[in-house]
Amino acid sequence: MITTTGLTKVYQSRDREVSALDGVDLHVREGEIYGVIGQSGAGKSSLIRCVNLLERPTSGTVTVAGQDLTALAGRGRRASKELRAARTRIGMVFQHFNLLSSRTVLDNVELPLEILGVSGPERTRKAKELLDLVGLAEKAKSYPGQLSGGQKQRVGIARALAGDPKVLLSDEATSALDPETTRSILQLLRDLNQQLGLTILLITHEMDVVKTICDSAALMQRGRIVESGTVGGLLATPGSELASELFPVGGTASGPDRTVVDVTFHGEAASQPVISQLSRTYNIDISILGAAMDTVGGKQIGRMRIELPGRFEENVVPIGFLREQGLQAEVVEDEKGPRDPKASAATAQSAGTPAATTVPEQTPAAITKEVVK
Ligand SMILES: Nc1ncnc2c1ncn2[C@@H]1O[C@H](COP(=O)(O)OP(=O)(O)OP(=O)(O)O)[C@@H](O)[C@H]1O
Ligand SMILES: [Mg+2]
Repeated sequence: MITTTGLTKVYQSRDREVSALDGVDLHVREGEIYGVIGQSGAGKSSLIRCVNLLERPTSGTVTVAGQDLTALAGRGRRASKELRAARTRIGMVFQHFNLLSSRTVLDNVELPLEILGVSGPERTRKAKELLDLVGLAEKAKSYPGQLSGGQKQRVGIARALAGDPKVLLSDEATSALDPETTRSILQLLRDLNQQLGLTILLITHEMDVVKTICDSAALMQRGRIVESGTVGGLLATPGSELASELFPVGGTASGPDRTVVDVTFHGEAASQPVISQLSRTYNIDISILGAAMDTVGGKQIGRMRIELPGRFEENVVPIGFLREQGLQAEVVEDEKGPRDPKASAATAQSAGTPAATTVPEQTPAAITKEVVK
């Protein structure tokens, strides 16, 4: 539904160039909710603005619903008319709502319809229908200043739906909202996705947003997508940085000569007593450093951080045993000792290679700090 190939964006400032997108290949399937997550400055907004051509990509292509938008941009008046028409089929929701304070809620939703040339009575009917869809019918005559943040965002969403879009783009739509309101807005997006078959590309800082509603996700770092896939697929990928950020468990080694392993349970494996089997089979004492159950991508997942006595090379066989039981087992610290947390791709702008095979021990705490704005 949305495809970008080799997308680059270089901003020219007076004395320097900033490369915001560095060859982004994105593929969002029809009907899915796709989350792009990444730190400030990673290029997320640049990406979403290039998808609807609000920002002209430096190179690469953007195709939405089979139409190559990059081919339309900047090709004379007729093409720009087509581009405008294509844009009406792409709704956009913003972090700070961008409502007109002097207009009522109803008028705010009518505005894009007016621009589309919809006549008076039809415009009002449609705007009321949209407000009803987002659960705000009774606020039609209010002004934005009289609404809560969540209600304002509902108006923003109703307005984005005015052109009956197939695709909705959302740039940090819930970042200015409290957790409860965030949940209700995410629920609304999920409902719209299902009721209208709307494809949603959303940008977020918050891992919780991805966890709650995304079918697929991508991690952006320094203008590049360094990991992407369905949420379920990512969770099943050993060493996936996104997976460990989606589902962090804490806990550090109690001393030297210990091996810390993150074990992820899903499906069948979750109901097997594998930890006690491991302990009995190899006659080892296992400490549990941290554990959590959660729902990610609509599926129950368990993750446990365990500590085995001895260094990594002494535990190769027990770790192999866990993997044979169908569990994902990732060594957090190897024989070289704890990884330097500063080397974590998730915590630093200077991060080098993504998706290391070991999960940096300090990732969860560091992410929490970095993610919250
Ligand atoms: N109009 C612009 N002119 C020059 N540089 C820009 C412009 N817009 C963005 N940039 C730069 O491009 C890079 C990516 O910015 P972008 O806004 O896409 O990041 P982001 O991931 O959305 O960040 P945030 O999470 O803070 O919103 C940054 O280094 C930023 O300073
Ligand atoms: Mg941004």
